[in-house]
Amino acid sequence: MKIAISNDHGGTKLKMSILKYLKGFNYDVINLGTDNNDSVDYPDYAYEVSKLLKDKVIDFGILICGSGIGISIAANRYPHVRAALCNDENSAELSRSHNNANTLVFGGRLIDHDIALKCINKFLNTEFEGGRHIKRVDKLSSPPII
Ligand code: RB5
Repeated sequence: MKIAISNDHGGTKLKMSILKYLKGFNYDVINLGTDNNDSVDYPDYAYEVSKLLKDKVIDFGILICGSGIGISIAANRYPHVRAALCNDENSAELSRSHNNANTLVFGGRLIDHDIALKCINKFLNTEFEGGRHIKRVDKLSSPPII
């Protein structure tokens, strides 16, 4: 499984913990985020992962900014991205089983790091349920024009 992780300066610390955690598994992880605390703009980092998802270079993305909010908004502007900002394992599981989320998002300044790792484990090990959720998920990428 191929994963890309990206972050702004608000997510550097959590990203480092996640990279260390993922090293213990058989995942192919690409680090696209900033590795220091200098101020950068989160939409640029949402773009990087969204592009690789679009090109099918990766299976899943992980995005982190300070709150998780800005980088979620930025990523979800791309129609093929289903980015889920999660704060607990249950949400991470549901984001896969019901929403077929392809990107997991964290607020690096808000979430407990151990909980974030548990969320990742759930997210990467949960399949989309399909069934009644298919037509709803399909509607996400082609909303009515306003
Ligand atoms: C950066 O200070 C912060 O605004 C950003 O990481 C994020 O929280 C935005 O939503």
